[in-house]
Amino acid sequence: PEHPFLAGRHVLISAGGTRERLDPVRYLTNDSSGKMGTALANVALAAGAQVTLVTTAHQPVLPGIDVVAVSSAAEMADAMTAHYADADIVVMAAAVADFRPQAVADNKIKKQDSEMQLTLQLEQNPDILAQLGAAKTHQFLVGFAAETQDLLHYATQKLHKKHADMIVANQVGQATTGFNAETNAVTLLRPDQEPQPLELATKTAIAAQILMMIEQELEARGD
Ligand code: C5P
Repeated sequence: PEHPFLAGRHVLISAGGTRERLDPVRYLTNDSSGKMGTALANVALAAGAQVTLVTTAHQPVLPGIDVVAVSSAAEMADAMTAHYADADIVVMAAAVADFRPQAVADNKIKKQDSEMQLTLQLEQNPDILAQLGAAKTHQFLVGFAAETQDLLHYATQKLHKKHADMIVANQVGQATTGFNAETNAVTLLRPDQEPQPLELATKTAIAAQILMMIEQELEARGD
């Protein structure tokens, strides 16, 4: 966008799927490419914001973005918490693993014989968005909800449970939207407002619409 509608705002964004280590050569992860979060960071910078991007992904970013590379959910939680106080707008676009291996093996896990079975014990990761929601002071906090079914129902639950100011609801499991696609179609949910659908467009165009809507909300609050 030519218009610097985010001038003076500090924007903190997370992107990508977290990697939860199992042993020195293996990890558990998910299908998130980091494209939506990276598009949000690039559009926010172009719109005049100061941008911190906490990411597991290796997508191209504009020079001028403060990139914090992380891998696991625990590292992402630490980085988001460290930058939270200074942020005006916070968007958790990352796909954070709900679970991580309870123990990380010091050495590569070996297959002993053809009969061997392996059971992985997983423990829960922190819910970063919920933690940020509980610690909110002045930030406008945005989460994503990717679902294959009952999208608006689950997304509305997340809005309230995690104390977010907006949830970007995202139908996944189709070629044109969600994980790894170049385009996206989402619905924006805010407390006490009608759901606002955004039509299928590039992730960059969707990012611009999301950020403009956030800025409108901040201005409506008088911030
Ligand atoms: O509950 P669910 O994982 O569907 O919620 C998605 C939203 O919550 C996303 O914004 C995601 O970044 C965030 N999340 C998180 N920490 C987790 C799980 C999800 O911040 N452990």
